[in-house]
Amino acid sequence: MTTYAELLDKLAIPLIAAPMFLVSNPKLAMAACREGILGTFPAHCTRTRDVFEEWLKEMAAGFEEDSAENYAPYGVNLVVHPTNPRFEGDLELCIKYKVPVVLTSKGAPGDTFGQIHDYGGLILHDVASRRHAEKALEAGADGLIAVCGGAGGHTGTINPFALVNEIRQITDKPIVLAGGMTTGRDILAAQVMGADLVYMGTRFIATNEATVTDEYRQMLCDTNANDVFFTAALDGAPANWLKPSLLAAGIDLDELVRTPATEVMSPDKVKGRYKNIYSAGHGVGNIHKVEPVADVCRRLKAEYKGAVGQLGGLQKLAS
Ligand SMILES: Cc1cc2nc3c(=O)[nH]c(=O)nc-3n(C[C@H](O)[C@H](O)[C@H](O)COP(=O)(O)O)c2cc1C
Repeated sequence: MTTYAELLDKLAIPLIAAPMFLVSNPKLAMAACREGILGTFPAHCTRTRDVFEEWLKEMAAGFEEDSAENYAPYGVNLVVHPTNPRFEGDLELCIKYKVPVVLTSKGAPGDTFGQIHDYGGLILHDVASRRHAEKALEAGADGLIAVCGGAGGHTGTINPFALVNEIRQITDKPIVLAGGMTTGRDILAAQVMGADLVYMGTRFIATNEATVTDEYRQMLCDTNANDVFFTAALDGAPANWLKPSLLAAGIDLDELVRTPATEVMSPDKVKGRYKNIYSAGHGVGNIHKVEPVADVCRRLKAEYKGAVGQLGGLQKLAS
């Protein structure tokens, strides 16, 4: 797989099950791939390089199944920044196992992108602004992941219409839209507004395959957008967190609100982030039950198909 067109051809709908720290794993990724949705996980989800290699072997074994030619390819999220001590070794493994799609975040080093391109990997790079997009394009990214306001995990802050329009001024390359989407109709809407693919994270946390506690799954079912708290004070990067988990960890939300954007709370107060301080995007209010990944994927495909069918009814508005 070398081109974006080849990637699209392998997808049942234009959707990526986004990589999530301490949530994604090969089982979740493989279940999505089997349904024609690009499954992913972050390399840094694994504690060591050896465990990362085990995960890559598990993916390779999954793709040896008979019907694998109908599967979507998979992707790995790699933090391509010199501050990531695992970077060199993890990149080496991506090259060794020819990971089809590499979802890069933080830096955008052209030489790293060159090494991924050399084995035929496709690079989609995380951006939260036009400036990030320019840098990633200069470095040779094949497409951009536009992380907008309302996304789970480390989030962008820009409205999706605004960010897609800004990025579209500088490139025709594929844009993957991220932030707050949970339905098949949302995927079509993203395409209508100029994106090519959708990245959904939060939608895949309340699944049987996710490596999360039942408490986290239940909190996703019980909360809505008003329960999502935006702050950079937990680890220095703007992120969305579930209020009930912040409160359960003894964090004073008033103190959090007063913490200046450039300051991080003392590490002992926030050491459970991602483990027992849970993250979710604004789309959380549309998640009501815990399901297998396959059921989520099948519903998203049916919703997308239904939404495409309904578009016909809108055509008269344009005539
Ligand atoms: C719990 C959690 C952990 C995340 N960890 C990562 C990560 O390790 N690497 C990454 O690139 N994105 C990470 N993300 C962001 C997702 O890849 C994606 O951009 C985001 O979930 C999309 O927004 P949505 O959750 O509203 O669908 C994380 C998101 C969540 C909710």
